[in-house]
Amino acid sequence: MDEFIRFEHLGQRFDLSEPLLARLIYRRPKKFLDAVDDVSFSIERGQTYALVGESGSGKSTIARMAVGLLLPSTGKVLIDGHDLHDRSRTEAEHRRIRQRLQMIFQSPFASLNPRWRVGSILAEPLRVFGLVEDRAAELGRVHELLDQVGLSASDARRFPHEFSGGQRQRISIARALASNPDFIVCDEPTSALDVSVQAQVLNLLKQLQRDLGLTYLFITHDLAVVRVMAHRIGVLKSGKLVEEQATAELIESPQSDYTKMLIRSAPRIGSIQARTGMSQA
Ligand SMILES: Nc1ncnc2c1ncn2[C@@H]1O[C@H](COP(=O)(O)OP(=O)(O)O)[C@@H](O)[C@H]1O
Ligand SMILES: [Mg+2]
Repeated sequence: MDEFIRFEHLGQRFDLSEPLLARLIYRRPKKFLDAVDDVSFSIERGQTYALVGESGSGKSTIARMAVGLLLPSTGKVLIDGHDLHDRSRTEAEHRRIRQRLQMIFQSPFASLNPRWRVGSILAEPLRVFGLVEDRAAELGRVHELLDQVGLSASDARRFPHEFSGGQRQRISIARALASNPDFIVCDEPTSALDVSVQAQVLNLLKQLQRDLGLTYLFITHDLAVVRVMAHRIGVLKSGKLVEEQATAELIESPQSDYTKMLIRSAPRIGSIQARTGMSQA
C-alpha cells in the first residue's frame, strides 16, 4: 500500500484558563481541554478517509492540523514520511508543501470573498503560488478549473452571491484545485446543502478523486454520506479515536457502543445511495 499522510499520536490541548489575575484572586486552577487526544491513523494515496463524530469531538481541529493551519501540541503529521511541521524547512519549502494540502469548508459563503468575482477568487492561488506565466495563461487555467467542477467560463465574471449553495461549493472546490493539490480536507462540505444537491457535489468530489488521484480526509457527522464516499472510517469521540475500520466492516460490524449508536441514528444511508446512484467507495 502507498501511504500519503500519517497522524502519529496527534494531540491538541487548548488552554481555557481564566485570566491570570482572576485565577490568583479566586485561587482557580488552570483549565485545559484536550480537543484531540493521542490520535493515530493514516490515509492511503488516492483514497478517502472519513472522520465521523458528533459536534465538538475534535474533527475540525484535526483538519486544521492536517493542512498545517494549526501546530499540534503533541505528536506529528507526516506527509510522504516527512514531518509537516519540520522547523528546519525554509519558508519556500513550507509554501510548496502547503500548496499540496487544501481544505474545503462547510459554508462556502463564509470562505468566498463576496466582493470578488469568481475569476479573481480562482486566480488568487494561481498568483500566490506562482503557477501562471501571464494573464492569458491565468484566464485559461480559471476556465479549465470552472469546467472541471461543472461550471462555465462565463461564470468567472459573476459574484458568489449570484450562485446557488451547491454552485458556490463547486467554486470553493475549484479554488482548492487551483494549486494542484494532492490532498484535500473536506470539512462537512455538503452539510449545509439539500440532499439532492449534496449528492451532486459528492459525485463531483468522487469523480475528481478518480481523475486527479486526490487523497481526501472527509469530515462529517453524517454516516449516510460516509458510506458512499469513504474507503476507511475513523470514529472520533471527545478527541479520541474510538474505532477505525474499512467502511463496509465498520457499518456492518461496528465494535464500539458509540459507533453502534451513531449507525442507529443514521436513517438516511439508503436515501443518499439512491440519489447518488453510488453504492460504496
Ligand atoms: N481555538 C480554540 N480554543 C479553545 N477551544 C477550542 C478551539 N477550537 C476548538 N475548540 C474546542 O475543541 C473542541 C473540538 O472542536 P472542533 O474540532 O471544532 O470539533 P468538531 O469539528 O468535531 O465539531 C470543542 O470543544 C471546541 O469548543
Ligand atoms: Mg467542525
